[in-house]
Amino acid sequence: MNLNDLRAGIENKTARLAVIGQGYVGLPVAALFADKGFDVLGVDVQPELVEKINAGINPIAGKEPGLAELLKRVITSGRLRATTDYNELKVCDIFLIAVETPVDENHVPRYEALSSALTGLAPVMKDGALVVIESTIAPRTMHDLVLPLLEGQSGKKLNEGFYLGNCPERVMPGKLLKNLRTMSRVAGGMTPETAEVMIAFYKIIVEADVDPADCITAELVKTVENAYRDVQIAFANEVALIAEAAGGDVWKVRELVNKSPMRHMHLPGAGVGGHCIPKDPWLLVHGAGEKGVSLRLIPAAREINDSMPSHMAVLVQDALKEAGRVIKRARIAVLGYSYLEDSDDTRNSPSEALVRILRELGADPVIHDPWIPEYNGDVIERIRGCDAAVVMVAHSAYKEFDLGSLKSALQMPILVDGRGVFDKRAGIEANLIYRGIGLA
Ligand SMILES: NC(=O)c1ccc[n+]([C@@H]2O[C@H](COP(=O)([O-])OP(=O)(O)OC[C@H]3O[C@@H](n4cnc5c(N)ncnc54)[C@H](O)[C@@H]3O)[C@@H](O)[C@H]2O)c1
Repeated sequence: MNLNDLRAGIENKTARLAVIGQGYVGLPVAALFADKGFDVLGVDVQPELVEKINAGINPIAGKEPGLAELLKRVITSGRLRATTDYNELKVCDIFLIAVETPVDENHVPRYEALSSALTGLAPVMKDGALVVIESTIAPRTMHDLVLPLLEGQSGKKLNEGFYLGNCPERVMPGKLLKNLRTMSRVAGGMTPETAEVMIAFYKIIVEADVDPADCITAELVKTVENAYRDVQIAFANEVALIAEAAGGDVWKVRELVNKSPMRHMHLPGAGVGGHCIPKDPWLLVHGAGEKGVSLRLIPAAREINDSMPSHMAVLVQDALKEAGRVIKRARIAVLGYSYLEDSDDTRNSPSEALVRILRELGADPVIHDPWIPEYNGDVIERIRGCDAAVVMVAHSAYKEFDLGSLKSALQMPILVDGRGVFDKRAGIEANLIYRGIGLA
């Protein structure tokens, strides 16, 4: 099979597709292609996840419009089936890889999942297959890790025995299907001809531009866009700290700054979490330091954003002090444990960091999150008897809070708002001791 055959298989939808990794990215991608008429195999190493998918049960618990219905439809139609068995991939023509790519405690990329997916795939990969890495990877990973691994383990040569590209995902939990359909993509091919075939393929589900590029450009674009966001958030967080010190209101400042042309100040907050933003800046800079690039801004931004949960603990201590209470043995209600509003995704959650810090300070944190089975339940009951409530995530349920009921449930009338959910005046009018990020 050559690229022309692949293109024909894409156009008449006879190409068989496998999506390796059935998490936040891989499952919706697999389901969307299946819904467009392709036969899709979803591959994962977690048997319980595979079982759930095959039963048509959406494994993602947060608000994910349309996903549960889509999954049911493609499982019922038989277009999507999940498996743990790489042997089943022998019949497939196109492989998308969407496994996790975290960094370790020294900020070094961990490619165990990616390497094991490639090692599983290489021996069963059909002649002429197209392999596309959707996972976010450090610049040069396609050339330095993916290509040698695939060639070495399959015995096939690039552009003769198989074709290779990188098409990073831009989705965000809570909007997975919408983002997949409407956000533009970069199709990084090892050759321009491969990129063109990738465009033909992705245009089946993507309504926006799919731009051709080489692999290094695609790797850089993905990691740069998330590093950009991290740096912007760090800027907003540093401004929030300045506003607190100066006696200002960062939310008002931001609103007025953004009236000035070409200013797009981001939202400050209690920390940055998720699988992507906290690690993609490290993927971007990986390798550059060794090549003599002096890295200052991007690591500093990471440090600022990582320090925000500590700052939340400082605000809690300050409010407790005003109430004549010390933090030791104080019961602190931590509201929200996911990293994002109305999501169940707890990866790198700033709340986890806050809970650890509070425990180190001798406090007794009580966690609530409406989206996480371990922590959900009646929020007012969870708060009852606590010495302070700390909003870490702007879940819709918290935005609807009646501050009067909140105050009555608390032992001490303390509310610390890490997401600008409440107006400071409303807090004060409810006779709460109120602290908020970026507020004096
Ligand atoms: N989550 C997001 O919002 C998002 C957005 C853009 C890009 N990304 C990137 O996409 C990639 C996947 O992220 P995710 O959020 O879907 O991760 P995830 O952890 O939700 O899913 C990864 C899945 O891969 C499976 N897996 C691991 N090793 C495997 C193997 N050898 N074979 C088969 N399956 C294997 C895991 O069991 C898991 O189910 C990452 O590189 C991430 O940076 C994620």
